[in-house]
Amino acid sequence: MEAWRQTWTDPAHGAAYGELLYQRAIGALPEMESAKAVARRLAPILRDGDRLLDAGCGAGHFLVSIRRHAPCRVHYHGIDATAPYIDLARRAFAGASDCVFGVDDLFALALDDRSADVAMCNTVLPFLPSIAQPIAELCRVTRRVVILRMLVSERSFLIREVASREDGDELDEANQPRGFGFCNIYSHRHLRRLLGRIPAVRSVAIEPDDEFDPAALADPAEQAFKRDNATAVLGGMQVNGSIIMPWAFVTIGLDHDR
Ligand SMILES: C[S@@+](CC[C@H](N)C(=O)[O-])C[C@H]1O[C@@H](n2cnc3c(N)ncnc32)[C@H](O)[C@@H]1O
Repeated sequence: MEAWRQTWTDPAHGAAYGELLYQRAIGALPEMESAKAVARRLAPILRDGDRLLDAGCGAGHFLVSIRRHAPCRVHYHGIDATAPYIDLARRAFAGASDCVFGVDDLFALALDDRSADVAMCNTVLPFLPSIAQPIAELCRVTRRVVILRMLVSERSFLIREVASREDGDELDEANQPRGFGFCNIYSHRHLRRLLGRIPAVRSVAIEPDDEFDPAALADPAEQAFKRDNATAVLGGMQVNGSIIMPWAFVTIGLDHDR
């Protein structure tokens, strides 16, 4: 398995993170600020009967916010590469008729062309080794609109966060990490060029994700679950560790008949 995937499959971190998402999915913990924000953005876009794909859905917890803030009848399809998270999602929404979940990989989605009307991919792309193929896949399987929550800045930064280790040093003799996760920031220019190469892309809007309640991000439950990996707010910017996180919503309008 590639090192970057271990963020999610690592038994200690991955399981604790899955539990956090599950608690949100069953309503035992509050909605995430990003979930509220994306649901509000989707409200004017979604239509009754739409098929909504949530790529990298975790435990399906964004469905709670979609139901609350975008109150039309959609068929929600959550996919995630981490099978235990899909098990949690199925448990959280057992018996619900408006959703299905499946294990799938953004690099090669096992979904038909245009099988979703609208897709969202929240807080996943920074952690992948590259984004061209995942974004092309999302545009292939979606008919009208794709929304991405990702890190977008004036310049690109390809960042590897070195995983700390209990059993020895985190860097080897050659100064290479024994384990790591990506936290990649892409420039507006790169993103627009990349999207410009996808024929079905008709429009692109990149807007900062700045509609959040700083107090909610300081939520003790969030801090306790994520310990040294929780988001804080400094001077109005979202910060994680030493990194300012320029979270943005990228809204891609599609027209496959162009
Ligand atoms: C930071 S979590 C975000 C979960 C949720 N979308 C949210 O915003 O809370 C990233 C998710 O992406 C999933 N993921 C990572 N790589 C993936 C891939 N190649 N294809 C699909 N999902 C992936 C992980 O399993 C994890 O659930």
